[in-house]
Amino acid sequence: MSENSKIAARFSKVLTPNYRAPAIAIVRGEGCTVYDAEGQSYLDMMGGIATVVLGHCHPRIVAALEKQSHLLWHTSNLFASTPQIELAERLVERSFADRVFFANSGAEANEAALKLARLYHRAHGQDRYEIIAFEGGFHGRTLFTVSATGTPAYWKGFEPMVPGVHHAPYGDPEAVRALCSKRTAAIIIEPIQGESGVRPAPAGFLAELREIADENGCLLIVDEVQTGMGRTGTLFAHEPSGITPDIVTVAKALGNGIPIGAMLTREDVAKVFEPGTHGSTFGGNPLAAACATAVVDELFPGGVLEESRQVGFYLGEQLEAMQKRLGENKVVDVRGLGHLRAVELPGSAAPVIDRCREAGLLVIGAGDRNIRLAPPLVIRRQEVDTGLGILEEAIRAD
Ligand SMILES: Cc1ncc(COP(=O)(O)O)c(C=O)c1O
Repeated sequence: MSENSKIAARFSKVLTPNYRAPAIAIVRGEGCTVYDAEGQSYLDMMGGIATVVLGHCHPRIVAALEKQSHLLWHTSNLFASTPQIELAERLVERSFADRVFFANSGAEANEAALKLARLYHRAHGQDRYEIIAFEGGFHGRTLFTVSATGTPAYWKGFEPMVPGVHHAPYGDPEAVRALCSKRTAAIIIEPIQGESGVRPAPAGFLAELREIADENGCLLIVDEVQTGMGRTGTLFAHEPSGITPDIVTVAKALGNGIPIGAMLTREDVAKVFEPGTHGSTFGGNPLAAACATAVVDELFPGGVLEESRQVGFYLGEQLEAMQKRLGENKVVDVRGLGHLRAVELPGSAAPVIDRCREAGLLVIGAGDRNIRLAPPLVIRRQEVDTGLGILEEAIRAD
């Protein structure tokens, strides 16, 4: 039995079976390369599901983690600790927000946002509790966030879902208008739907939602858990739309792999989160916050974010060229922005993903028929060429 298979067998014996049995065990990573238990290397073009934004074991993040690990690991939020204050100061400085709530994951950041939206209206004497979300959207696996998730397969067996959540077709402002009422607390949207296939919102849609939210008096929550922290070429993917959200959530890339999530909001919204209303033991943990602060400092100013833009364009161009070469029988569509892309196939993506892995490339699915690419922002052109070469062969062989 191979080393990978032995580890996979141990995985399957003791872990709950909600994750499929893995084909390989990853034991080490450096930059855009990871190594399995048998020393085989892989080009990582999925970045731990859009998370490892600066590459594996980035020296600046390792140094930040090491330094903090000798100072303080945990205090709880009963005390102030400087790493989370420093991180919040940076996020506030670089966004519309005045205040930050720290969580440990994307789901928890969204859970906080949805709860805050309800509380905000209750604090203003309005019984608004309904949420408008979108078909195909993904917001997490807690009961509230999975209720907001717009793919019913995720609800199966967990019903009844949180009441008052409605789903509109993504990109349809009239459907949103029709669902809006005096009971609507918030609209929640991903600027690009990641999990269901890297589907960017149609041009002008975010601006229309801003208008609808303003007319109706509800809040606009932008879920940037997958798109945030520079993945699409700006710190947040909503920025080019010119809108100002009421709440933004972020996680995944924020810590480059250390678990941390954040909810960003304005002063007047944040203030209803009075002491005791919400909380998290680990939220803003010093180790995680020190890593995330180093991530922000590496992205700005004139850092990785700016440098990565050209490679993000290049990735898009090369995917389009690949689509042309392969033709529509092999590639139905290519979508996305910056370092978040999808290749839509006519059939199941799973065999292509397996072939890529066997040839030394890690990519991930998004919906049944899409191959998703979410490489670290530090990926080089040469690595893009290598990865897309493997991907093209794997698609051709289908
Ligand atoms: C847009 C979006 N929101 C929320 C989540 C949930 O994040 P987490 O898995 O960290 O709870 C995800 C995860 O894929 C996501 O893509």
